[in-house]
Amino acid sequence: MNDKARAAADSTADAPLLTVENLTVRYQLGRGMTGKPKLLSAVRDVSFTIGAGKTLGLVGESGSGKSSIGRAILRLAPISEGRVVFDGQDVAAFGRRTPPSFNRDVQVVFQDPLSSLNPRQTIATTLGQALTRHRELGTAERNREITDSLDRVGLSGYHAQRYPHELSGGQRQRVAIARALATRPRLIVCDEPVSALDVSTQSQVINLLKELQRDLGVSYLFIAHDLEVVRHMSDEIGVLYLGQLAESGPADQVYRHPAHPYTQTLLASTLLADPARQAARSARRRALASDTELPSPLAPPPGCAFNPRCPRADDLCRTEQPALLPLASTGALAACHHTEPTPVAAAS
Ligand SMILES: Nc1ncnc2c1ncn2[C@@H]1O[C@H](COP(=O)(O)OP(=O)(O)O)[C@@H](O)[C@H]1O
Ligand SMILES: [Mg+2]
Repeated sequence: MNDKARAAADSTADAPLLTVENLTVRYQLGRGMTGKPKLLSAVRDVSFTIGAGKTLGLVGESGSGKSSIGRAILRLAPISEGRVVFDGQDVAAFGRRTPPSFNRDVQVVFQDPLSSLNPRQTIATTLGQALTRHRELGTAERNREITDSLDRVGLSGYHAQRYPHELSGGQRQRVAIARALATRPRLIVCDEPVSALDVSTQSQVINLLKELQRDLGVSYLFIAHDLEVVRHMSDEIGVLYLGQLAESGPADQVYRHPAHPYTQTLLASTLLADPARQAARSARRRALASDTELPSPLAPPPGCAFNPRCPRADDLCRTEQPALLPLASTGALAACHHTEPTPVAAAS
């Protein structure tokens, strides 16, 4: 291999599997009194990458634009500005026809498997369809693969003959994961896959996803409204507030030294072993978060979007939008005029 070929091979080896660059997602709402269509910016200028076999955890409260990002990657929401590049391909440039390879490579697991699984089909039928959508399989082979795919997610032949309503929430989510894996994807968008499950089932499903990642090398965009849920899952974290990234960076860094007051608020809800510290932290979270709702993306506050709820907000924050900038020496980025990374212990 000559130098040039080696350089090219190196650069593709290093290139992230998914690059989201300055993504803006706008929805057109009905025409108001003026007759002009109203635009809602659900996602504004969001950038991140996901490497092969890696997980990016995306957190933020309801309405912050998490699903819109996932949907834009899946081509289910408009890419109004910016780019989504998957494996070197510009997703917006596909036009009307999505290449079959993209449909195989990028899969999704939603929060509510009951609404995404056909209620009138047995699990075996659903998995069989997913397995044969992109490949020719004989009956024997198909049945063997159905058994294998159930086995891989911790279910058995017994579950194959059941209907979705006969399974528990956790079992249904396992089926949804098996279905997503049927096309041997390289990226799965997991949109709050455990939010509807009780805590012990949550950790089982998270452990399953981690195991599958180890075995198969699949990448995840893992969406949750709870930072704690993504903590053990993610290599990188993005904290979304009103459609924008407030903070992003290596998971450890963001957890140990959250720089943005919003990230600190989210982390303040994390349970601590020490009841006194926990009480102080809960009080802090209530003080920060309870009196004001997430503002409407139709009328984002001027300046920093978080300023109406932020204890540190001053005139600068009320007038000038902070840029997402690297924090000194940490490798994380934060969009705050007053960033000082605060160790979690001291944040209580
Ligand atoms: N299809 C749509 N049309 C208009 N507005 C939408 C649509 N989907 C989502 N929104 C709005 O976009 C914002 C972000 O929504 P979403 O991406 O679902 O956030 P999240 O997943 O974080 O709860 C919300 O204000 C929501 O009401
Ligand atoms: Mg959502």
